[in-house]
This record gives sequence, C-alpha cells and structure tokens, in this order.
Amino acid sequence: MTNMDQDILKILYTEEEIASRIHALGAQMYEDLKDKEPLFISVLRGAFIFMADIVRACQVRSDVEFIAVSSYGSGTSSTGAVKITHDIQQDITGRNLVVIEDILDSGNTLHFLKQYFMTKGAASVSICTLMDKPSRRAKQVIPDYVGFTVPDEFVVGYGLDYDQKYRNLPYIGVLKPEVYEGD
Ligand code: XMP
Ligand code: MG
Repeated sequence: MTNMDQDILKILYTEEEIASRIHALGAQMYEDLKDKEPLFISVLRGAFIFMADIVRACQVRSDVEFIAVSSYGSGTSSTGAVKITHDIQQDITGRNLVVIEDILDSGNTLHFLKQYFMTKGAASVSICTLMDKPSRRAKQVIPDYVGFTVPDEFVVGYGLDYDQKYRNLPYIGVLKPEVYEGD
C-alpha cells in the first residue's frame, strides 16, 4: 500500500481551509504580540507543520524553540503522564511564550507545559492550538488561539499521526476503522 489517501474515511479540513484559517489566526496573533518579541515553542512532533505555517502567518519579531514530550505511544488514548524527552535550549526568564500545539485533547500536555514554563520564569505563557477537542478535557486548559474546534474523533494529517504515519498528508482527516484493527 503506497497511497495514504485510501486509508482516509473523510476529510475534515482541506489544505485550503487550513491555510485560510492560519492566515486569519496569524493576523490576530500579530496584533496581540507585535510589541512582545515572543518566543514560539512548538510541541514535537505533531505541531511541526503548524509551527512552520503559523510563524510565517504572524510576522512578528520572534524566535523559535522546540520541546518534545511523551504522549500517546502508538495508540489513540492518553496515558495522563507527561514526560519531557527533549527540552528547550535557552533561558526563558521574562519571556512571553506562545506554545504551539497541534491538538488540545485531555489537556494533560498543555497543563503540564504551562506550569513548567511558568516555573522556569516566563513572563507569560499563551497557548495556540490548531485544534481543540473540548469534549475530552480532564485538566482545565484555556487556549488563547484556536484554529478549529473539532468533534471527538481521532484525526491525522498536517503533522498529526497514527502510529507515526500520515503526518505528511496536506489535509486533516479521519482514518477508516479498519486501519486501527489489531490495536
Ligand atoms: P492531551 O490529551 O495531552 O493531548 O491534551 C495532546 C496530544 O495528544 C495527541 N492527540 C492526538 N494526536 N490525533 C492525533 O494524531 C488526535 O486526534 C489526537 N488527539 C490527541 C497529540 O499528539 C497532542 O499533542
Ligand atoms: Mg501524536
């Protein structure tokens, strides 16, 4: 099987819809951040494509960092425990941070990261998530910027994976149930 499209049940957001939403979000963020010289911190690996697009849509003087945390493994449900597997490489004391995430689900990851960055002395920590799945929230997290509010379905594409695959689909979609068979 070489064609990933055949594993997709339906497309939730097309490449064009994603681009247009990010364009608007970037303009909104620019107004808030233009005097703050923010540090954008992308949560690897799912947010890597969104990061590349949102920082270009928000033409503010800024720099970028990457953090990796343990997440779902190869399944589709959260373990609750969050562990940093790759940390940021600079002092963030007094900085205005914008955490760039692919999807806010249980809230475990962003709840943990917000606390972590505040403890390290950040002046502020805002959250920008491409998608918000509010139906499954376990920890209270209020995102500052949301691309799309999504239903409780497992989504792939545009950086998001199932078993590390499908990240390079240009759109966001839902997999056919048979793809999960055996899990
Ligand atoms: P929590 O539950 O900590 O989840 O808010 C955030 C992380 O969980 C992953 N996640 C998904 N990944 N499709 C994915 O590919 C999904 O529908 C999905 N829901 C949650 C994601 O890695 C995110 O960073
Ligand atoms: Mg993932």
